[in-house]
Amino acid sequence: SAAEKGGYDYFMLKEIAEQPKAVADTLLGRIDAAGSLTLDEVRISTAELREIDKVVIVACGTAFHAGLIAKYAIEHWTRIPCEVELASEFRYRDPILDPRTLVVAISQSGETMDTLMALRHAREQGSKVLAICNTNGSTIPRESDAVLYTHAGPEVAVASTKAFLTQLVACYLVALYLGQVRGTKWGDEIRAVIRDLSKISQEVERVLKTMEPVRELARSLSAKNTVLFLGRHVGYPVALEGALKLKELAYMHAEGFAAGELKHGPIALIEEDMPVVVVAPSPRGRSVLHDKIVSNIQEIRARGARTIVIAEEGDEAVAPYADHLISIPATPTLLQPLVATVPLQVFACELATARGNEVDQPRNLAKSVTVE
Ligand code: G6P
Repeated sequence: SAAEKGGYDYFMLKEIAEQPKAVADTLLGRIDAAGSLTLDEVRISTAELREIDKVVIVACGTAFHAGLIAKYAIEHWTRIPCEVELASEFRYRDPILDPRTLVVAISQSGETMDTLMALRHAREQGSKVLAICNTNGSTIPRESDAVLYTHAGPEVAVASTKAFLTQLVACYLVALYLGQVRGTKWGDEIRAVIRDLSKISQEVERVLKTMEPVRELARSLSAKNTVLFLGRHVGYPVALEGALKLKELAYMHAEGFAAGELKHGPIALIEEDMPVVVVAPSPRGRSVLHDKIVSNIQEIRARGARTIVIAEEGDEAVAPYADHLISIPATPTLLQPLVATVPLQVFACELATARGNEVDQPRNLAKSVTVE
């Protein structure tokens, strides 16, 4: 009913709007007054966490994209090797697991069969399993050694939005916590990131207030057949997520690529006026990455692409090459997905509406897939 949707036309719109709160709620009580993380709820002892020599993340769909982003954070902040794998692939390839492997299973519903089978397999090999889950008491957390709940609240729309942002928050918390427990050399950076993380829900709120041009742009592209998405570093999984949303909701051919891979194939796809969404990294910090993305944008534009660039406010270098510029607030590089994903959700939702598709219940999809 309209009341359940809180005045929005679709649950998806309501859930997109709820993201600042979902992010804040997922941080609530997990950062103490001194700016340290308190994750006592993770019932794996600090002694055990210090022994971990590998992290393996398993998940499906949008949760898998959260896992891909987590890898950048975990390896950077903790120096523990981290693999991310689709749960359906992981289970059947005889992966190397032992008691020093921490397996992180990410699932909004806690009922995805592929993820459940992957975690059962991991526990049989003696690995510890930490679930990141949005549904209290569901099967995946019940069968895990520990759980870090995301506090997105119930997510009704099939296409995941607020659950994804809170999965990212939970992944950062796990990465930072592992760093904190193991006393990595990134101590200062970790403290600074925890401070930035506690302000991030306001930044998500700011992004939401600037989405009208994105909706307008989406409507103008409703007759297109293909949209490509490019990114580097954590912008690459964001590109994959942007493409997934468009497939799910707009039923358009959409693909995400690592921008550096363009020249190894995807650039052949570029045609006159084809929309290409590019997630640009911050021009501060890792500026090498930024220089590279600017040349990637020039390359595709020279071949006729219509460039839609998501870039940090005040990014002067990309502006001349962006046919459409979508500005997002400055954040530390690793946290950028929390703000960069939001315009892509709005874009896909608006395209679905413009194409007359059912937003909350896309064809052929289920909210939670309980068969293998
Ligand atoms: C289904 C949903 C996706 C979701 C995936 C994983 O395919 O349609 O939105 O990302 O399952 O679900 P989970 O509940 O495990 O996060």
